Amino acid sequence: MAKIFVTRKIPERGIEKLKSAGFEVEVNPEDKVLSKDELMAWLKKGSYDAVLTLLTDKLDADVFEAAKGSVKIFANMAVGFDNVDLAAAKKAGIMVSNTPGVLTDTVAEHTFALMLAIAHRVAEADRFTKAGKYHGWEPMMLLGTDLSYKTVGILGLGRIGSRVAYHAAKGFNAKVIYYDVKRNEEFEKEFGAMFCETPELLLAQSDFVSIHVPLLPTTRHLIDANRLKMMKPSAYLINTSRGPIVDEKALVEALKNNVIKGVAIDVFENEPAIEPGLIGLENIILTPHIASATEETRSKMAELAAENIIAALFNQAPPNLVK
Ligand code: DGY
Repeated sequence: MAKIFVTRKIPERGIEKLKSAGFEVEVNPEDKVLSKDELMAWLKKGSYDAVLTLLTDKLDADVFEAAKGSVKIFANMAVGFDNVDLAAAKKAGIMVSNTPGVLTDTVAEHTFALMLAIAHRVAEADRFTKAGKYHGWEPMMLLGTDLSYKTVGILGLGRIGSRVAYHAAKGFNAKVIYYDVKRNEEFEKEFGAMFCETPELLLAQSDFVSIHVPLLPTTRHLIDANRLKMMKPSAYLINTSRGPIVDEKALVEALKNNVIKGVAIDVFENEPAIEPGLIGLENIILTPHIASATEETRSKMAELAAENIIAALFNQAPPNLVK
């Protein structure tokens, strides 16, 4: 019977799917991230046929070396796979898969939760109200900013970026502009969207900038001190992609000096650490990498990761092979 290792507790639907395919499933009994040494010890001890991993597992050359000869696939339960050294996986002859598609709507929803919350000062107003500071309606109290009819700049027009653009255009009558390495003229026609040749052009025109690029050597610190200065002082920055795309130290300085109006982010440069300067600021909302964290979506992600394993172990092409 094939043996699967799951690096941490995940929604039961994923486990059930693996078991009903006839596999023996072992889940890390401790609900915590495994260190690299711990993961390698599990791999050496268990001689598993497949491993279901999470974005918090760092899968580098040593890990693939430890898995070589036994593990056929590492199925990452995330759309992002910047935690995986793909070249090392290839060298070890091990497949890697991800879980795209099933989390698109949820991450897009969270992006809007953040966008609206920062523009309408929801978190600040909540703190204000709970602190007993509300003593009656005031014409000038906690004034925010509308999203409707504004310019929303999408950095990265993949599945999630496109979904955010759709809601912005159809739900808020926003003007959508986008930057991507690939131009999409069909999308432009459908949403009246405008392509920006460079990130700089997008930053200069947007009232809201939403980041949806993957983390790559070319996107690390895509938003740095210089590019923050290119944004309008009235603009907001939203990041539900990966933390290192934004230089967090530069972000603290920009917020302290009102270079931009506000920021709402779900991801951090050195997770789970958060740049201390970000914590005390009023003009930022922070959520702990939960953009895909709904009951429905996390179950679908677990199930899709399991489907990739099942395909690989039945000698079929996993539906979401990362190349
Ligand atoms: C992903 O799947 O990459 C997300 O960041 C998880 O929430």
